[in-house]
Amino acid sequence: MADFHKPSTISITCPKMISPFLKKEVEDLGFTVQHQRYAGVELKGSLHDCMKLNLCLSTAHRVHYLLKTFTANNADELHKELVTIPWEDYIDKHGYVSITSFIKNKTINNTQFANLKVKDAIVDRIREKTGSRPDSGSDLNKTVVFLFWKGTEASIYLDTSGESISRRGYRVRNHTAPMQETLASTIIQASKWKVGQHFINPMCGSGTLAIEAALMALGRPAGLLRPNYGIKHILGFDVGEWNSLRSDLKHSANKDFKGKIIATDIDNRAIKAAQKNAQTAGVDHLIEFHRCDFQDTPIPEGDGVVVFNPPYGERIGHDQELYDLYKTIGDFFKQECSGKWGYVFTGNFDLAKKVGLRTSQRIELYNSTIECRLLEYELY
Ligand SMILES: C[S@@+](CC[C@H](N)C(=O)[O-])C[C@H]1O[C@@H](n2cnc3c(N)ncnc32)[C@H](O)[C@@H]1O
Repeated sequence: MADFHKPSTISITCPKMISPFLKKEVEDLGFTVQHQRYAGVELKGSLHDCMKLNLCLSTAHRVHYLLKTFTANNADELHKELVTIPWEDYIDKHGYVSITSFIKNKTINNTQFANLKVKDAIVDRIREKTGSRPDSGSDLNKTVVFLFWKGTEASIYLDTSGESISRRGYRVRNHTAPMQETLASTIIQASKWKVGQHFINPMCGSGTLAIEAALMALGRPAGLLRPNYGIKHILGFDVGEWNSLRSDLKHSANKDFKGKIIATDIDNRAIKAAQKNAQTAGVDHLIEFHRCDFQDTPIPEGDGVVVFNPPYGERIGHDQELYDLYKTIGDFFKQECSGKWGYVFTGNFDLAKKVGLRTSQRIELYNSTIECRLLEYELY
């Protein structure tokens, strides 16, 4: 059985440009980050630590626990190294394993082939030691093993998340172009919003930003919403420790908060989807929803932020309607939102200029592969 308290390297992945936010989150949990990469961070810790990281991180994608680093010139050498790992200690001989990988090796032009080699090594080893073998396939809801192989340097990890942490499980209904939960959480953390202040989200779509803000305001880790993680399928997983960690996190969350969270959208289907998602996340009673044009969004007195993720279209500079929309957002900021911080998250820099106000910050982020900016405006 795996020793859940044995220290090793933990490598946490996240979307591009988000690692400074991930680093802060990891450090706020009391860990020391040893390396910050373009799309992830590294630290020392145990499988037990991975439990907390999975439940508490809102900007991460996956938490990988290192089993071994080695040199491999080709697939045969990879297999030779991998059969020396005591897989029978980690994976149930009657269980199920899935392999994922990141590969840049000149002898491999097909990641499926490398994944197959990893699976073969795991299965060969377990069969030799126990007489039985686990099933394998592409389902990420059971044990997941991750191979990182660049040049001749390879590292093999247990993927303690399985499905990306971004999939919190509350988004049961999607509206137009919903943003990843990880990105929504990063936008909020990059903004000047503080818990206790108002969070206003016109053009809310499926409600991701408002829901993430409500979870943050309660201090309730989004990871608590999801029942399954890769770590639960690793031999030695202690369900008692897991439940007690979950219960501590649940009890340290607040029941309520000051400041309003308001989400509006012109499309009734968006409001219905956002309400349903908020209900699934258990925060629907904390968000005020309105179906209205963004210009009719109620803006309460007091400190807070107004965050827009407007449509930005596929073709740059071709859509007059979008130009007008962005110009009207600028007017709305000026006329209705004084005293607040305004934000526009967009992937179209041409349209962004139409807001017509001076930015106090332009933060580079990615929406999947699209380069975007979070534009910040101080609204006097
Ligand atoms: C890019 S989507 C927002 C996605 C959202 N961040 C999410 O995670 O689901 C843009 C939203 O703006 C809404 N919208 C477009 N024009 C609007 C207007 N004039 N007033 C209010 N909402 C509008 C659309 O209905 C759509 O839901």
